[in-house]
Amino acid sequence: MRTDVPHLLAERAREVEAHLESVVPSAETTPTALHAAMRHSLFAGGKRLRPALVLESARAAGLDPPTPALPVAAALEMIHTYSLIHDDLPCMDDDDLRRGRPTCHVVHGEAMAILAGDALLTLAFTHLGEAAQRGLIPAAALPRIVTTLGRCAGTPGGMVAGQVLDIEGEGKELDASAVDAIHRHKTGALIEASCVCGGLVAEPPEGIVKALSQYGRALGLAFQIVDDILDATSTCVALGKTAGKDIAQGKATYVSVHGLEAARAEAKHQAEQARGALASLGERGEPLASLVDFVIQRQR
Ligand code: IPE
Ligand code: IPE
Ligand code: MG
Ligand code: MG
Ligand code: MG
Repeated sequence: MRTDVPHLLAERAREVEAHLESVVPSAETTPTALHAAMRHSLFAGGKRLRPALVLESARAAGLDPPTPALPVAAALEMIHTYSLIHDDLPCMDDDDLRRGRPTCHVVHGEAMAILAGDALLTLAFTHLGEAAQRGLIPAAALPRIVTTLGRCAGTPGGMVAGQVLDIEGEGKELDASAVDAIHRHKTGALIEASCVCGGLVAEPPEGIVKALSQYGRALGLAFQIVDDILDATSTCVALGKTAGKDIAQGKATYVSVHGLEAARAEAKHQAEQARGALASLGERGEPLASLVDFVIQRQR
């Protein structure tokens, strides 16, 4: 049976947003300026793709319904949102539009935007620890979830390292393998972590974790290639963020290095790799396969 992806994404977004509401301090909680800044970016209508990947990976690994994976889904969205807030700062990509709104630092000031990012990152790990203490996620699964997430969010193998490569690559003529490394680190690692950490909540056989890791790795690269294509071909209104920034800032992207057509072909190739990684999961992998189509066809 084919998955109704818009319905699935809407359902997963609703669940994770309700969960985030219960975890993130209200805007009335002191220090109010910080919590208002965190909430400005978090509750701004992102696609919630990473939480959907966490939950569908947990289900594919045998957890049905995947509700116990919600703390992991929330942690991924907090870390992803922190990465966006910092990515948009004047010292980074200097963006004033995100998720269809003025960016965090434009509304709340640079200091509060930096601190909102710091607070979302730390809250993600606090929440995972608390969820395990309360028996919501299996305590035995926690150490590997935390180390996987920390590695993929940080350095040398994760998002922070990728952001450094991205910034150091500005204005340079990089080769294909250098752009590949940027994309796999800055974006691919957290997408792979979503799939692996979601699966780990189900405490499945190692073969399933490996399949989810291969799926997430290919999907993550496809996702950032499509981000590059959309930056080059779409509009601010359609994206809810600034279009045409990559060329203006001299970023090394799949489009700048390979051209549009080759970038599209490589996104498709990575999509096939992602689908192929699901073979051992059989019918249980269908929702994840449908999310591959969504990533390739998305318009924002
Ligand atoms: C944007 O991620 C940043 C990248 C890693 C390319 P998304 O396109 O998932 O952004 P939201 O969460 O929907 O806003
Ligand atoms: C972002 O890459 C990766 C992150 C870690 C946030 P981009 O800089 O291309 O993301 P957008 O296009 O601003 O969303
Ligand atoms: Mg960037
Ligand atoms: Mg950016
Ligand atoms: Mg981009």
